[in-house]
Amino acid sequence: MQGVNRPKVAMLLRLGLFSVVLALGGCGAREFLRRNGLEGRSNAAANSLNVKVTADVSRTHPVAANLWGIFFEEIQHAGEGGLYAELVQDRSFNGLAYTQAFLDSDASELVLGPTAFEGSHLNLVPAAQSNSLPVNQSLHGIAAQLYQHNTHQNSAETSQPVSWRPIGDTQLTLTKQYPLNGGNKIAMRLDADSGAGGIINTGFWGISVAAGKRYELSLYLRKAQPSSDSGMSVEVALESAHGTQLHASVAFDDISADWQQYRATLTANATDTTARLAVRLQQGAVLLGMVSLFPAENGVEGSVSPFRSDILSLLKGLQPRFLRFPGGCYVEGVTLANAFYWKPSVGPLEQRPGHWNGMWQYWSTDGLGLYEYMLLSEELGAEPIWVLNNGLSHQESVPTARIQGMVQDALDSIEFITGSTSTQWGGLRARMGHPQPWALTYIGVGNEDCGKPFYTSNYLAFFYAIKERYPDMQLIANCDMGDDAPTEMWDWHWYTDPDSMFNGRYTFDSMSVAKDSYVFASEYAVFDWGIPTIPRGTIQGAIAEAAFMTGMERNSEVVQLAAYAPLLANVNHKGALCPTNLVIYDNSRAFGNPSYHVQALFAQHQGLHYVQTDIDSRSARDNGVAASVTCQDDGCSRLSIKLVNYAQFTQTVALRIKHSPVPISAVGNVTVLTGLDYQSTNSFEDPHNVYPRTATFKDMSSEIEVELAAFSLTVIATAPASAPAAVAWS
Ligand SMILES: *[C@@H]1O[C@H](CO)[C@@H](O)[C@H](O)[C@H]1NC(C)=O
Ligand SMILES: *[C@@H]1O[C@H](CO)[C@@H](O)[C@H](O)[C@H]1NC(C)=O
Ligand SMILES: *[C@@H]1O[C@H](CO)[C@@H](O)[C@H](O)[C@H]1NC(C)=O
Repeated sequence: MQGVNRPKVAMLLRLGLFSVVLALGGCGAREFLRRNGLEGRSNAAANSLNVKVTADVSRTHPVAANLWGIFFEEIQHAGEGGLYAELVQDRSFNGLAYTQAFLDSDASELVLGPTAFEGSHLNLVPAAQSNSLPVNQSLHGIAAQLYQHNTHQNSAETSQPVSWRPIGDTQLTLTKQYPLNGGNKIAMRLDADSGAGGIINTGFWGISVAAGKRYELSLYLRKAQPSSDSGMSVEVALESAHGTQLHASVAFDDISADWQQYRATLTANATDTTARLAVRLQQGAVLLGMVSLFPAENGVEGSVSPFRSDILSLLKGLQPRFLRFPGGCYVEGVTLANAFYWKPSVGPLEQRPGHWNGMWQYWSTDGLGLYEYMLLSEELGAEPIWVLNNGLSHQESVPTARIQGMVQDALDSIEFITGSTSTQWGGLRARMGHPQPWALTYIGVGNEDCGKPFYTSNYLAFFYAIKERYPDMQLIANCDMGDDAPTEMWDWHWYTDPDSMFNGRYTFDSMSVAKDSYVFASEYAVFDWGIPTIPRGTIQGAIAEAAFMTGMERNSEVVQLAAYAPLLANVNHKGALCPTNLVIYDNSRAFGNPSYHVQALFAQHQGLHYVQTDIDSRSARDNGVAASVTCQDDGCSRLSIKLVNYAQFTQTVALRIKHSPVPISAVGNVTVLTGLDYQSTNSFEDPHNVYPRTATFKDMSSEIEVELAAFSLTVIATAPASAPAAVAWS
């Protein structure tokens, strides 16, 4: 049985070529070869069979249940102007108040002159000089490269675009005289005493509206002088970039003397990706508080779902088993003054003060707060991994003697997530709309902070306080702490060039579970600063990552969790963009880069058991081939075979499946991801240039030859043979 005595007839599986051609619908064989980089490259190497891949199904070990996940960081407008569907930028004016050095000043008003709207200038002392704690640290690694790139040309320039501007004959004034509420102390006063005017918001490099689509508007208004005449009215319009075309509008009459929320549903009658939102008044003065506009599918202020649907569905395509959030360096801040704190990030949106994202140099409204990150985990069916600041920013350390407040903050956050509705913080979660507690298994303690003053002792303070209350919580340290502290799991980060990434595929083979604690490869990617395809990456980089991922799958008893970084990038972000990012977008379009499809294929084919997979070749580099086989079910009747060719030429490998407990059906699926050349990538114009092509094949057996395109990932999914096939084989 099981084909052991079968004659060893090698079958050539040419990527299920004929079926693929059918699947491509009218795209001819030549075109398929061309697209897959096969044409003209079927050279000597193709037939020399230098590489043998053998998978032994009698030798397996479990694949970590949550191996492939994602890492969200508020970087490059990942949330603000990205996944968070809010269309108005800086909706509560706090970003403008911050960059104008008004937010935290003693002044009660700031009259905004023309220079306030000219560019993105930060009139503050540089963060380094506002250091309040006595410990200096230097930036390191990729954070240093990006941060320096961001600040290098003009230290006062930020990535924060100015999104508000006056129109007509209007004086704009930021004021603290009539705060909207305790959390939000800034309002904008519009004075149009000498004629009609108002204010516009240009969104995130334009507000994108579509004809026939509905938008939920919410804004807070009050008369600037409570005693002034009645009958003041305000008009809100969606209009073209220069205000020449009106797409939708609503008028609010008889504006209240006290703060009041005004709402309307606007239906756009034109498609325009560079629209703006205008608030106009004919005469007089009004105060404006939080102005919000969401697509109606998201509800008022994102009440139905705060996530932009096209980006969310791309995230769903990654089938993430976990979500690490909200950073990254975003968690630490350049200084503790601009780190992420969860308490101001929860509660009603109009009460959230937001904060300066000091690391990545733009304003965060904290519309994506702890509650929304948990909603996102739930929506994606992903285990949340909540990364805490443990008292360390990029430039400061809170001494352990003074860390207790932050430890309590962490305990409170766990209560917010997991506590019953009768607890203080669980009650707040319930009032926000989620009475059902969420499960939380993982907590990250800091980000890239090992070696900084007080990291270890602060880690221990968090570790013991959390373990005492929540013994099952898994804590993630920033390194293997060895004898210094108990380590359950530790962060491992790597950004490197394509060849090094490919060569790194055996990195984890030397780590044993017994000796070292679990690894969370929480950030890795091919970073190549020289390539012309920034920020989209290339197929070469993606295939190097695929090879590296086969090594993580092989060692998934050590590597329990792994996530690529960065996840999201808005191409209009003014600071430096990372060389590659999984999902790339502007205000109306989004696509996955080549690495995105590698990640999606691995997640789609994450198995239950890893099957011992050996590569036999005469070259130290395995001829550029890497492979990993997993069982998709407990009985190993369905296999996923990942074959990686990190070579510039097509090559044929001999694949042998040993000791399969069930005969393998001749019919299954084959998926190929490749590009026309090593720099192939995707773009807004051609988002599916590098895209997995799937076909059924008919020639599978336990010994076949598989032709692998240059720089390609091939995934073969087998099925158990149906009864007749099994009879034929025995
Ligand atoms: C911190 O760095 C600043 C600026 O480089 C320097 O003037 C100061 O002496 C440093 N402080 C300590 C404690 O090293
Ligand atoms: C859209 O509606 C506005 C009125 O709300 C109107 O002024 C404008 O002409 C309309 N535009 C189109 C393209 O129909
Ligand atoms: C092949 O793909 C089809 C369609 O997605 C799916 O129904 C089938 O289960 C797949 N077969 C294997 C062996 O994965």
